[in-house]
Amino acid sequence: MPFTLPALAYDVAALEPHIDAATMTIHHGKHHAAYVTNANNALNDHSALQALSAEALLAKISDTPDSIRQALINNVGGHVNHTMFWELMTPGGSKVPTGTLSVAITNTFGGLDQLKAAVNDAGMKRFGSGWSWLVSDAAGTLKVISTANQDSPLMQGLTPILGVDVWEHAYYLNYQNRRADYLAAWWNIVNWDVVAKKYGR
Ligand SMILES: [Fe+2]
Repeated sequence: MPFTLPALAYDVAALEPHIDAATMTIHHGKHHAAYVTNANNALNDHSALQALSAEALLAKISDTPDSIRQALINNVGGHVNHTMFWELMTPGGSKVPTGTLSVAITNTFGGLDQLKAAVNDAGMKRFGSGWSWLVSDAAGTLKVISTANQDSPLMQGLTPILGVDVWEHAYYLNYQNRRADYLAAWWNIVNWDVVAKKYGR
């Protein structure tokens, strides 16, 4: 099986009060686990594709067979998106963006507050399930986008460097319909060191 569920680097309760332990337990242990299982199932009869990384599969999604393409978008996408989401969070958060990332955020958005507002706005405008992203293109230009369901920015040739899950399963137990409150709280647990590393410039 090509994909496995990655362990969390922190306890399920470690992100409280911003994300509660029950949400983390179900989100990681049930939702993410199901994406991994279903991604592996989709690749069962496709040994050549099993050799590719999840990221490579998404970047070349148009080359995959019609019969499994949507399953790969949903489940390899779900696996990659959630793996990144867990990595992006850390108990107590991690200071603020530094170095070239900080400069790029200031140059592109005007500052960190404006970036947060743009990500929150994209997350609020995502109707139904999806993600709000900070992405980088090949030239290192930053942009905020939103995708539906588990669609990955990698499918558009963009590199996600920060992403927040706005599916109801990410917040409903604690925040119910208050997506805006969840988004506002989420910034308290962002690990900017990881974001900077993903920006990689
Ligand atoms: Fe999720």
